[in-house]
Amino acid sequence: MASPGFAGRSFLRMDDFTPQELTEVLDLADELKRERLSGAVRDTHKGKTLALLFQKPSLRTRSSFDVAFMELGGNTFYLGPDEVGVGKRENPKDVAEVLGRYVHGIAARVFGHHIVETFAAHAGVPVINGLSDLTHPCQVLADLQTIRERKGRLAGLRLVYAGDGNNVAHSLMLGGALFGMHVVIACPEGYEPNAEIVSKARDLAGSYGGSVEVTRDVAAAAEGADVLYTDVWASMGEEDEAEERRKRFTDYRITMDLLEKSDPEAIVLHCLPAHYGEEIDEEVMRCPQSAIFDEAENRLHAQKALLVVLI
Ligand code: CP
Ligand code: NVA
Repeated sequence: MASPGFAGRSFLRMDDFTPQELTEVLDLADELKRERLSGAVRDTHKGKTLALLFQKPSLRTRSSFDVAFMELGGNTFYLGPDEVGVGKRENPKDVAEVLGRYVHGIAARVFGHHIVETFAAHAGVPVINGLSDLTHPCQVLADLQTIRERKGRLAGLRLVYAGDGNNVAHSLMLGGALFGMHVVIACPEGYEPNAEIVSKARDLAGSYGGSVEVTRDVAAAAEGADVLYTDVWASMGEEDEAEERRKRFTDYRITMDLLEKSDPEAIVLHCLPAHYGEEIDEEVMRCPQSAIFDEAENRLHAQKALLVVLI
């Protein structure tokens, strides 16, 4: 039974929850993963509907929310980028007020983070951020589940993220800080993470015994890393910058050479989709230290846990 304090809340950023609450979600995610393997079925969400409202494409987020809610006995429907016209055809507040009358929860993928904030303020039902330009908390919930599975703990681990200081990097900093991890973001000049998120993550790290560092020197950062992480160099909406970014990020690739600088037991994570030969080599993706496909699988279990506690 989840803590009563969860019901009806939204999840837009990792720091919307305390470390205790996040631990409860992660423990439940592990339990749901074991249950699914054993073939057990929970029908707790029969008669409930989840809307999937996406302004950007998706494989993992859409499919995992869909399957998770259906496995809980609920129904889902998908509204894709061309259907609603959030902010163009429809005011985001009105979208939230209308959808909130039909469904029991909304999983949304948006451009501006203010859109999920507006949805959460006006929907009257839980809103789950399935990626905004600022954060990607569902991804990092699954990442933390994967790291715990492989390493048996989170506190004190050194997580090195190489690449763009983007939404995934922001959620890793916040999530890692809440669990007392040492998070290092190695990025080229001009592609640093958002300063307010860095400052918030540093405050949290100070409270929970971790640290947050931003550096240019990816090779030095990788020394002793327990987790090496990367993401695409050009996020959705930045396609026009892809060529320029390919030039700027060449030193930030996760290669076997970089992996060899890390702890011998280090694991590699990538939120996917991946571009082989750019941010990661296929050899690394498929090496024994890669936990990337477990990480993708855990999206299902971690988000199912979130749906159970919130809706
Ligand atoms: N990692 C992730 O969120 O993947 P999708 O864009 O396919 O949902
Ligand atoms: N930073 C990437 C993550 C994709 C899951 C993007 O926003 O496109």
